[in-house]
Amino acid sequence: MLIGFMGTGKSSVARRLAARTGAEFIDTDQLVAASLGRSIPEIFAELGEERFREEETVVLERLPRDRTLVLATGGGIILRERNVALLHELGTVICLTADEETLFARVSRRADRPLLQTADPRGTLASMVRAREPLYCRAADMVIDTSALTHGEVADVVLREASRLSA
Ligand code: S3P
Repeated sequence: MLIGFMGTGKSSVARRLAARTGAEFIDTDQLVAASLGRSIPEIFAELGEERFREEETVVLERLPRDRTLVLATGGGIILRERNVALLHELGTVICLTADEETLFARVSRRADRPLLQTADPRGTLASMVRAREPLYCRAADMVIDTSALTHGEVADVVLREASRLSA
């Protein structure tokens, strides 16, 4: 179960992990979008963040418990205690991190993150990172700094650490 701020590479790393392990790739953002029949920006604009957060919890509750999953989550999944408990039920919770400069460079490549569409996206990102850092740390079984790594390298670290944890 991959958690972490926007731009830490959760979905890309999860896809690689799924391809390499044969586990099923699931992305909570995709499930929320499918469930509400709208894109993430449309959900925030038309239904609001609270509705999006409620659906994140519903999606986690509905995930199959009888299959091996590699789950990529939305960056705000840790904002609800209930979600963190559900993630731990599903498996090992791995937090991907990166330094702020790297995160900003990565998130600037796409404009589909409603929470960063502000007058000062750099400042917004910095204050969100500060506010959320303790939540990510508390929720994580393992933390991996991805700043200097490719997605494939992050997947290598995850697999190595996961096999150590289960050894
Ligand atoms: C969010 C992160 C996004 C998406 C939504 C809200 C957040 O997912 O769930 O825009 O609150 O950090 P990514 O982390 O995959 O960008």
